[in-house]
Amino acid sequence: MQAEIVVLPGDGIGPEVTAAAVQVLRAVAQRYGHQFSFEERLIGGAAIDATGEPLPLDTLAAAQRADAVLLGAVGGPKWSDPKAKVRPEQGLLAIRKALGLYANLRPVKPHPAALGASPIKPHLLTGVDLMVVRELTGGIYFGAKQRRGDAASDLCEYTVAEIERVVRHACTLARARRGHVTSVDKANVLETSRLWREVATRVVRDEFPEITLEHQLVDSMAMHLLAKPREYDVIVTENMFGDILTDEASMLAGSLGLLPSASLGAGRVGLYEPIHGSAPDIAGLGVANPYATILSAALLLRHSLGLEAEARCVEKAVDGALDAGVFTADLAPAGRGVGTRAATAAVLEQLELECQPVVLRD
Ligand code: NAD
Ligand code: IPM
Ligand code: MN
Repeated sequence: MQAEIVVLPGDGIGPEVTAAAVQVLRAVAQRYGHQFSFEERLIGGAAIDATGEPLPLDTLAAAQRADAVLLGAVGGPKWSDPKAKVRPEQGLLAIRKALGLYANLRPVKPHPAALGASPIKPHLLTGVDLMVVRELTGGIYFGAKQRRGDAASDLCEYTVAEIERVVRHACTLARARRGHVTSVDKANVLETSRLWREVATRVVRDEFPEITLEHQLVDSMAMHLLAKPREYDVIVTENMFGDILTDEASMLAGSLGLLPSASLGAGRVGLYEPIHGSAPDIAGLGVANPYATILSAALLLRHSLGLEAEARCVEKAVDGALDAGVFTADLAPAGRGVGTRAATAAVLEQLELECQPVVLRD
């Protein structure tokens, strides 16, 4: 198959981890006889430096034309002045909104070989396999923001339609999994959460009677997620709660550097990015964990290109690298760990072992 993939490296470790994922996608293309083309564009701080805008028009246009978008991360101290007029993060929010990517899928499945990297006791981690569906284009991130004298406000808004579509997405995923959805809100305090709970209850009752739905308040959810992570299947929640809970959930897997994501919507184009940020503290050192971005590339193969076998092959290759003990510093005991290149090379080597070569017809 032919596919055009727009690559948005962004800032900090973004260029290092997207380069790794592109190498893996090239290897997949070669092995399975696909033609993938990669078009690199600017976003975030790099785009502000070059053009003054965090999401230049040609970047958005390229993304809209593409079959899929692979993104690294945006942001960093250089652009973090609280008084700055433009910020790298605005570019990320703008592209999510413009592409209509309301469902952000963040799978969490601790790898047996990496259990030691987690601060959680291993016996709580075996069998954990959960999928967080984070609403991505609404809520407090996108409501009106104001400064009035010595006060500031951020408005949190949700419409019924916005809640319905993301809950439907979560339920559809749950149908193909264990049939359980946990909807997370703060309905004891927030009006948006009371609407969220009402809509989630109705959607499941009317459209997904086979799904068991449970409601959980976000504060106690933060605790349960660490205390009994095995009990969760699909977790659906609003934008900011999903952001926070998934960084927490990364500690089940052992590192932020292991969690991929897929952002999907009503439109044709999906966006794929690790859940971590630009990691300014390690940027440029060649030590960033590339697995989260490589696993995001696997989600791209699955969700945007419909290449399930290829997606599985990439996931098996990362599993294989972890099984072989190829750990970057974030996963290894202090002072140990291989660099980004060696970890990527290990995945490429596993690809050779795990994936069926192309059968050439004569
Ligand atoms: P961060 O995710 O960048 O880093 C948190 C910690 O995790 C750091 O110690 C970092 O070194 C480590 N880490 C993250 N990814 C890693 C990887 N692949 N390998 C090894 N270690 C890794 O979060 P932060 O420090 O709070 O934010 C830094 C900047 O990134 C901010 O400007 C923020 O806005 C931005 N950010 C961007 C995205 C995105 O583009 N999607 C996501 C989160 C944060
Ligand atoms: C993420 C990030 C972004 C978010 C920031 C950089 C805008 O933390 O992708 O998780 O909060 O959505
Ligand atoms: Mn985040």
